[in-house]
Amino acid sequence: MKMTRTLLKNGTIVNFDRTERADVVIEGEKIVFVGAGYPEENSDVVIDASQKLLFPGGIDVHTHMELPLAGTFSHDTFSSGSLAALHGGTTTIIDFAMQSPGGSLKQALDTWHHKASGQAVCDYSFHLGVVDLHASVLSEIPNLIEREGISSFKAFTAYRDIMLSGPDLKLLMSALSDRGGLLCLHCEDGLPIEKNIKANIAAGKLHPRFHALSRPADLERTAIAHIAKIAKEVGHQPYVVHLSSADGLREIEKIRNEGQFIHAETCPQYLLLDESLYTENALESAKFVLSPPLRPKSHQNDLWRGLKNGLIHVIATDHCPFTLKQKSRGLADFSKIPNGLPGVENRMELMYGKGVLESHLSLNQFVDAIAAAPAKIFGMFPQKGNIGPGSDADIVIFDPTQKQVISAAHHHMNCDYSAYEGMEITGRCEKVFLRGHLVIDKGVSLVKEGFGSFIKRKACANIF
Ligand code: URP
Ligand code: ZN
Ligand code: ZN
Repeated sequence: MKMTRTLLKNGTIVNFDRTERADVVIEGEKIVFVGAGYPEENSDVVIDASQKLLFPGGIDVHTHMELPLAGTFSHDTFSSGSLAALHGGTTTIIDFAMQSPGGSLKQALDTWHHKASGQAVCDYSFHLGVVDLHASVLSEIPNLIEREGISSFKAFTAYRDIMLSGPDLKLLMSALSDRGGLLCLHCEDGLPIEKNIKANIAAGKLHPRFHALSRPADLERTAIAHIAKIAKEVGHQPYVVHLSSADGLREIEKIRNEGQFIHAETCPQYLLLDESLYTENALESAKFVLSPPLRPKSHQNDLWRGLKNGLIHVIATDHCPFTLKQKSRGLADFSKIPNGLPGVENRMELMYGKGVLESHLSLNQFVDAIAAAPAKIFGMFPQKGNIGPGSDADIVIFDPTQKQVISAAHHHMNCDYSAYEGMEITGRCEKVFLRGHLVIDKGVSLVKEGFGSFIKRKACANIF
């Protein structure tokens, strides 16, 4: 059967390492040509991209669809959350498949495959969240990396029931290093946080803002120092998820200056939102209860600087939405509020509008942070995160002039509030291609349920 050949004509193509005006030709699921002057008569479909930017499809390596948490589930399914991702130009997500205490990693993987398969409309993979390093867990790792295509894992230094001890982190990092596996780490120092939570509750300090006050930025710093020390002992180059503070960044800078490599990710909420959102209004505050919490505004410039100078490599969302009703469970006791906020749909447009247009990032740094670096670190490059011959035709045709106001009234995430409600931004994903298929066209979805493919990943790569 003859494959359709689509010509994206004369757009400005932005990759992590170059910007060029050129034609892109898609045949079937792949990009087959990038260059000047492709003949229109050789194409079945021609799209004029002359006023547009072309970005590789976004890769959000930190989402939580249908995550069981605090007696409920995060409110996006793979079906709704992945469609929202596509609307926002993200064509691949990596979600966290969480081990149950006492259970195997393979059981967790099977459970998450079941949630996503036939549902997801964008491409997807999983990190394996390790919460209980019982006797057989380490022996599962070779099979997961070599046969299942799961090359990244996550562990926590916080959350009483699921955090791993220092010796367990050491065993895990060491087992992963041997096989090209990567350990992602939630870095907050769990024991002092638990003490703070208990003390606040005992003192009757139950308002949602005490969630943030129980988790000061210095405890992100100490957790990073802790995991870096272990990583150094076993020669692992770990990945810090959702870096939120200037304190944490300074620790990473110190570690890097001492010659140790450590990857880091931050999220739009830490770059654009701040602790002033923890107001007297309990429900308003509960919307922004997440871990780590929002920090003082003064931290934001440091995080932007970290992105610009290569201390932070990736912008992901930590998309973990809960409705106002779910958030309300904890209005009288902050420790019962399910942690997290929606964001998978907003990342690319926010980071263009607030990152590139406000001169925090160059266009190439933007593409690196939202697509290329995630693909490289997590073993998907150049299949994903790249506009070049041979890569999957995951492409966003982006209108850099269109203005919009973010609102829950028209977003596609299954959540009745937006963390960025009312924010005005310039730039919009106009057309989104996933593996050569036009899946979003001017806000209209053209994708069939279950179109997303599971991406078997290669070993993770160090990008230093
Ligand atoms: O508050 C958050 N971030 N919820 C999701 C779980 C996590 O720690 O990433
Ligand atoms: Zn986390
Ligand atoms: Zn998370």
